[in-house]
Order: sequence, then structure tokens, then C-alpha cells
Amino acid sequence: MGRSAGGRTSDRYAGNRLDPGAGRPPDPPVIYLDHGATSFPKAPGVSAAVAQFIDEASGNPGRGGHRLTIKASRAIEDARTAVAELLDADPERTLLGPSATFWLNTILCGRLGPGDRVVTSALEHNSVMRPLRWLEAQRGITISVVEGVSPAGVPTAAEVQEIVGQAPTALVVLSHASNVSGAVIPVEEVALRIAPTPVVVDGAQTAGTLPFAFSRSDLAAFVCSGHKGLQGPSGTGIALLAEDFEIQPLIRGGTGSNSESEDMPVMLPDLLEAGTPNGPGIAGLGAACTWLTDRTVEAIQDHERALINRCITGMRTIPGLRLTGWVEDMPQTGVLSFTIDREDVGELATWLDRERGIALRAGLHCAPAAHRRLGTFPTGTLRVGVGPQTTEDEVDALVTALDERYG
Ligand SMILES: Cc1ncc(COP(=O)(O)O)c(C=O)c1O
Repeated sequence: MGRSAGGRTSDRYAGNRLDPGAGRPPDPPVIYLDHGATSFPKAPGVSAAVAQFIDEASGNPGRGGHRLTIKASRAIEDARTAVAELLDADPERTLLGPSATFWLNTILCGRLGPGDRVVTSALEHNSVMRPLRWLEAQRGITISVVEGVSPAGVPTAAEVQEIVGQAPTALVVLSHASNVSGAVIPVEEVALRIAPTPVVVDGAQTAGTLPFAFSRSDLAAFVCSGHKGLQGPSGTGIALLAEDFEIQPLIRGGTGSNSESEDMPVMLPDLLEAGTPNGPGIAGLGAACTWLTDRTVEAIQDHERALINRCITGMRTIPGLRLTGWVEDMPQTGVLSFTIDREDVGELATWLDRERGIALRAGLHCAPAAHRRLGTFPTGTLRVGVGPQTTEDEVDALVTALDERYG
């Protein structure tokens, strides 16, 4: 990645070192512990790749044959290859778009029709539940929710299998991990057990933070954001489709291919990627995935797990603090939720931000179903989310602030 806008170089992001803190901008304005919402700072090389696309490759990819168009197409296809390599997927069936929400809507609306039954978990985000509820009202699908016996609301593969076995099931859709508690659902085991029922996974909270190889799973589709664990720019999202899993597009329009026809091209990714793509965002996402492949997701998982364990150890000494949906030794991402007895989580979040410069998200986290299941609806929780560049000092600053306020 060379120069960025205005001739400034990207030296501050050079090196891509493995140690936490590498590549972060100097003097961060906040202690950012909201990686469950989006990543900050972005991976080294991302902003340079975004600027490089804008400055040097801003043709419309796939539309025409002049040099800027070709540069733009190459940048998009290089990014697609980097994403596919990181997630071990077929680049032709690696779809790039604006968000995980877009791809979840595409898959759910593109697959489900009147009378279809869907099985899902009690921990889903609204990007799954809202399209499902809309399809229930508008197309007459039915929805069965696996509550899960575990206090964390995580269904076992056997629990999902049992519910699937009760009636013909068109689709199973599951979060890979709760965006409220960080609890991981054993989605790959579910897919193995209930084959050939297609399993669609919302991996918004796990891509880039839990090791995962799509081609070695039995999933029908895996969807994720580009801007969370993958550390790419906002406005990016990915869907990976298995060989035999066909869906209809949610939107139709120009693709730059088969322009003689008023029907969508049948080949992927064009069929599902109508409209000019977010070139700068996708170029940044490609740079982020290349950085992640070099650093390895396993190293990031170890780093985040150590930070979350440190946070839990510190928090368990704070009087009145309750961890939400957390069970000892349960697989966990770098996200954790808590409440403090008789404390308004919104007020505490505001205090942490204003007084200590610590950014956390309070409330329902777009997941009312999960909060209902975990007993924290309607007031919600405070959510901590760590990332690859979060440091022990930052986690300690949160624990110290809570200790000073409540200890
Ligand atoms: C579990 C889960 N699914 C889906 C989404 C939606 O992701 P995006 O912002 O990329 O649409 C989020 C974002 O918060 C999430 O946490």
C-alpha cells in the first residue's frame, strides 16, 4: 500500500507487527472497548488501501474497458481473493456487499416462501429476527426457536436436531456467537447432525476472531460483516455460499456483464452483486484480510481470550456486578456483557465515556430476543468488546474505573 490522500504516506501503519498495539494511531481519543459494534482502529493498511482506491483506481469495476475500470476491477477481485483465502472459501461464491444485514436479508428472502419452517436460536440479532418476522407476516413462514437448556441460552447440536426433527424444516439460521454475551453456538456440529437441512450462519461476531474454514464446514452459507472482527471499513459485508446452495437476488440491476439482457446474469458473483460496489471499502477489506491472514486468526483468538479472561477476573471482584449469559469454560468470543445491581446501564456508559474516556455500548444491542432469553430485557446490559489491538492496560482501566465507582 503506497501513498494515501494528499501525498501523506502510510508509514504509521507500516510493519504489521504481531504485538498488540502495533499500527494503532498515536494518542487514541478513547479507550475503545466496543469491538462488538465495529472495530477501531482498523487493521494496518486499511486506510491506505481505501485512499489508494480513491486516488488511483476509481473507475467503475467491470463497466467498460479503460484503465481505471480495469484497476478498479483488479482491486475488487484481489480483495475477494484475500477474503476467500482468509475464510477458506471459493472466490466465485464469495459475495461482497454493504453489510451482514444485506446478505442475511438476501438469503432469507431469497430462499423462504409460504409454509416454509425455519429453526433458529434464542440469541439472534435483529438482522436475522426482523427479516424472519417480516417473512412470517408477509409470506406465511413459521419460526421455531430453540431456547437452549444452558443458562447462556446456547443450544446444543442435539437440541437443534431434536427441534428440526419435529417437522419438515426448510432452513436453520443461527448466530455463530451472541453479540450480547459472546457465547459461541456449535454451528458446525449442528450442520453435521442435521444434513441435508441447510444451515445458514450469521458470523458477524466471529469472522476474524474465531478460526473458521468454510470449505471444511457443512454450512450452506456463512454471512459476516467486513467492519467488525475482519477490521475492514464500515459498509462492507460478506456472504459465502456452498456449491449447491442457490438463492435469488434481493436487488436487480446493472452488473457490467450480459448488458444485452434485461434479466440478471446467472453466474456468481454477478447474480447477487447488482449495482456499483463500494470499491474503497472493499479494497480496505482486502487489506484487512491480508493482514489477518499474516497475523493468523488463532493469534487473535488467543489475544482476545486472554483479555476477556483478565476482564472477567477483575470484574468478579466488583460488588453487585453480574456477568450476563456467561458460563465458566464455555467457548467465548472477545465480547462480554454485564450489569451492576440497581445501576442504569446507560448512565454508567455515559459516565465511563465522559469521565474515563472508555467507550462501551449499553442497551439491547439490536438483539431484544437474546436479552429476553438472558433476562436483561428491556433495560439491557453494558457490553465490552476487545479487538486485536486492545491492550491489557485498556481492560485494566475499565476494571479500575468500576472498582473506584462500586468497590
Ligand atoms: C450478530 C450480528 N449479526 C448481524 C449484525 C449486522 O451486521 P452489519 O452491521 O454488518 O449489518 C451484527 C451487528 O451488530 C451482529 O452483531
